[in-house]
Amino acid sequence: MSEELDGVLSEQARYYRARAPEYEDWWYRRGRYDHGPEANARWFAEAAEVQAALERFKPCGRVLELACGTGLWTGRLAAHADSVTAIDAAPEVLEIARAKLTAANVCHVEADLFAWEPEEAYDVCFFAFWLSHVPRQRSRPFWEKVRRALAPGGRVYIVDSARSPRASARDHLLQDPAEELAARRLADGREFRIVKHWFDATTLQRELADLGWNADIEATREFFVYGHAAPIA
Ligand SMILES: C[S@@+](CC[C@H](N)C(=O)[O-])C[C@H]1O[C@@H](n2cnc3c(N)ncnc32)[C@H](O)[C@@H]1O
Repeated sequence: MSEELDGVLSEQARYYRARAPEYEDWWYRRGRYDHGPEANARWFAEAAEVQAALERFKPCGRVLELACGTGLWTGRLAAHADSVTAIDAAPEVLEIARAKLTAANVCHVEADLFAWEPEEAYDVCFFAFWLSHVPRQRSRPFWEKVRRALAPGGRVYIVDSARSPRASARDHLLQDPAEELAARRLADGREFRIVKHWFDATTLQRELADLGWNADIEATREFFVYGHAAPIA
């Protein structure tokens, strides 16, 4: 299973490299991600809700952003932070992120998060739509790594996907809840296997408590879960 999982994680990384030029179609609800005016309006309203909650959280100090992608969140972090270290495995998404944000307090790093080890301590660790791509059997080691990345008093902020058939592209099937592997297609028809979890706030908060985190996770009405966590001493 572990070899198969390694294969899926490589495929997942290749998927995001290939998807880089069309990645933001998902966030801005364009093309195959356009689910019509009502769903799109709800998506943007709920995204604004999450963004407002992040503002209230105030990601200050030394901020670590895991799987930063094209930088949809990095600027929001940089507006509060002394410094942002934004990590992603895909050079193609980092190129877009770097072109978009040239703030002096942001440093982009190319690294595989399953192999990467923190060399510094951070006040905040932020990840958006990354936890849903971490396989269940890597969840505990992942959260231990996050703990190692935090300075005393450090905090985590999470944003991720709630289960909705209108969240992904119209030609992506919402897989069975017990299944963590999903098929993803690019606009040109190429297909990839990835890991994808869909969260509900109560279950995620309970799972984090089991892993030793004091978390406060909320959900918007349809699309997102979000919230903060800190290690239980
Ligand atoms: C769903 S995107 C989220 C991007 C960004 N956080 C956002 O909210 O738009 C997942 C990101 O994980 C990155 N990724 C996939 N596998 C990775 C790995 N092993 N290490 C680091 N980043 C990885 C992809 O390149 C992609 O940018």
